Amino acid sequence: MRNRVEVMHGVNLDMLGRRSAEHYGGISFDQLEMRISEFARELELEVRFFQTNHEGDFVEHLHRLEEMADAILLNPGAWTHYAWAIHDAVELVGLPTVEVHLSDVKAREDWRKVSVVGDLCVASVSGEGVDGYRTALERLKQELG
Ligand code: DQA
Repeated sequence: MRNRVEVMHGVNLDMLGRRSAEHYGGISFDQLEMRISEFARELELEVRFFQTNHEGDFVEHLHRLEEMADAILLNPGAWTHYAWAIHDAVELVGLPTVEVHLSDVKAREDWRKVSVVGDLCVASVSGEGVDGYRTALERLKQELG
């Protein structure tokens, strides 16, 4: 059964509880991961988490995923908007991927409207807050059939 989803959080996501409540809902990182675990349980998916503030570690984790996961749920944080090395790493892994953002990146500053991974993802979810992770997991479940 293909049901292993790697949830990868990028730069500054670990500081969620100290970031703008207006954009990120005032939730802590631990609370976010707990909610994602609940969604996964409901959907009968197996999730594993990874977070780093170091782009090279993020890329190397992607390199290791091929045998360890069936799908990827990605929130690269600000890297989303400029880190083309992450684009190339997602491309080489070749697993079904969904991009998720808590905030509505299309309705914020112009620089947030660019996504380096968007073209590789089966779906991009933004502006739904924590529930966006459920939407993303549902989409991946559908992809894993
Ligand atoms: C974010 C949006 C990014 O623009 C921002 O840099 C983040 C979080 C989100 O989840 O809304 O760190 O990815």
